[in-house]
Amino acid sequence: MRFELSALLALTGPAAALIRFQCSQLVVERLDPLVTPGQIPSPHVHQIVGGNSFNATMDPSKDMPGESTCTTCQFSEDFSNYWTATLYFRARNGTYQRVPQLANAGFAGATAGGMTVYYMQDPLYDTAQKSKVSAFKPGFRMFIGDVNARSKDQAARFRQLTYTCMDDAGSRERETVAFPARKCAYGIMTSLRFPTCWDGVNLDSPDHMAHMSYPESGTFESAGPCPSTHPVRTSQVMFEVIWDTSRYNDDADWPEDGSQPFVWSFGDKTGYANHGDYVCFPPFLLSHS
Ligand SMILES: *[C@@H]1O[C@H](CO)[C@@H](O)[C@H](O)[C@H]1NC(C)=O
Ligand SMILES: *[C@@H]1O[C@H](CO)[C@@H](O)[C@H](O)[C@H]1NC(C)=O
Repeated sequence: MRFELSALLALTGPAAALIRFQCSQLVVERLDPLVTPGQIPSPHVHQIVGGNSFNATMDPSKDMPGESTCTTCQFSEDFSNYWTATLYFRARNGTYQRVPQLANAGFAGATAGGMTVYYMQDPLYDTAQKSKVSAFKPGFRMFIGDVNARSKDQAARFRQLTYTCMDDAGSRERETVAFPARKCAYGIMTSLRFPTCWDGVNLDSPDHMAHMSYPESGTFESAGPCPSTHPVRTSQVMFEVIWDTSRYNDDADWPEDGSQPFVWSFGDKTGYANHGDYVCFPPFLLSHS
């Protein structure tokens, strides 16, 4: 695997606490140690990146992912695991094809596309990244999204799980909460931004979300204050995944009724159920802040 290390180092000098890196695919399989630990197979297919100790259990009482010996992420010391569902194209004849992924801008060479992971203390465009954040603790994990959401209202409790219809590799505007309704010349990017206010106590919670909260008002980007129930501000973790949908842009392949043909591995055709999972390996973050 070859990466553009000079570009990466420019972003991650010792003072800067914005880190952005690509992770190649580790595996595509039906395992979900966060939502359905120990269940083989999990209810739907995921693409997983990160440390190689990933397995069906990831017992929080063990030092997993600390048992990893290597990772698919660009930082060889990041043994965290990050995962999302996989995307399919439904052809007119009713067959499904798994949509391949593309590497993000500047990361050509990442195997099978994988995903780009960000940790930031302030909005992406703020190069100073000066705000104080609390480090994630060993055993920390979280989930964001709702696999059962099928309407705008159901998705509304999540502020920043989006799609970008990409006309070219640099497209970043007009994010939508539903799948793009039109053909996207380059592909579709899914962006998942996790909440940034922690209760300060729990490393996880039954729904894997309750220990975290969005800011009380505004957003992470507008530096909205954390609520009293979740007073501890953390970094914003964000994933970007680019789906190579352009290969399916022939009119003859799209549904005759003009609807969009993409569907998540768990059957969602609306896109409102966009979701992501994160199992943290804190030593990596400490060495980069
Ligand atoms: C996952 O790995 C841990 C640590 O190596 C091990 O104890 C556990 O049995 C594994 N789980 C499965 C389902 O393989
Ligand atoms: C179904 O349609 C897809 C897309 O046009 C095509 O690639 C595939 O071979 C077809 N499969 C069958 C069984 O006809």
